[in-house]
Amino acid sequence: MALPDEIRTARLLLRRWRAADRAAFAALNADPLVMQHFPSVLISSDSAALADRIEQHFAEHGFGLWAVEITSVVEFAGFIGLAIPRFEAHFTPCVEVGWRLAADHWGRGYATEGARAALTFGFRELGLSEIVSFTTPDNRRSRRVMERIGMTHNPADDFDHPGAPQSLRRHVLYRIAARDAPC
Ligand SMILES: CC(C)(COP(=O)(O)OP(=O)(O)OC[C@H]1O[C@@H](n2cnc3c(N)ncnc32)[C@H](O)[C@@H]1OP(=O)(O)O)[C@@H](O)C(=O)NCCC(=O)NCCS
Repeated sequence: MALPDEIRTARLLLRRWRAADRAAFAALNADPLVMQHFPSVLISSDSAALADRIEQHFAEHGFGLWAVEITSVVEFAGFIGLAIPRFEAHFTPCVEVGWRLAADHWGRGYATEGARAALTFGFRELGLSEIVSFTTPDNRRSRRVMERIGMTHNPADDFDHPGAPQSLRRHVLYRIAARDAPC
């Protein structure tokens, strides 16, 4: 059966990307606050290339990092969703849950709300047995989202991200198993 194209939550629509989303995506990728825990901000061609890779993931797998619309607030606030990492590590192959929102929309619980819906999609629609998430140890905001959605961190899982520059290489890994998911 075909996978649903979009997910609605109380306040969000997680949907496929539109061409019009790309300008707002470039703006948030150019914001040093949003990109604080990444190697650098993205210039607009790199932001477009990332949007292309996200589209490609949807085309290949039928799911991905959905564009986030905040109902009656803004048509594009960033992305939340599921993705298959392309690098190899001790926990791959796997499916990760991830998020990136424009800073104007932080502090309202949108990432947590959307991430919970992404987990439900992963366990119910994709039948996954586990979903992971990872970030640099200092990314406290992102780690708090992981913890709020019920993911747990075992320091023995920490790893060096092969795609990250030396100063950002160390990563913490969080996991949640289908049997532990609240959905
Ligand atoms: C990571 C990121 C999505 C987290 O955003 P966030 O707004 O902190 O997370 P949430 O949407 O879950 O909101 C939680 C906050 O909203 C508050 N909140 C307000 N209303 C809420 C509600 N209805 N439900 C839940 N939380 C609510 C919470 O108290 C919490 O505030 P606090 O951080 O002061 O404790 C955001 O910081 C971001 O996009 N960062 C840049 C990109 C990035 O680093 N991505 C992750 C890479 S691994």
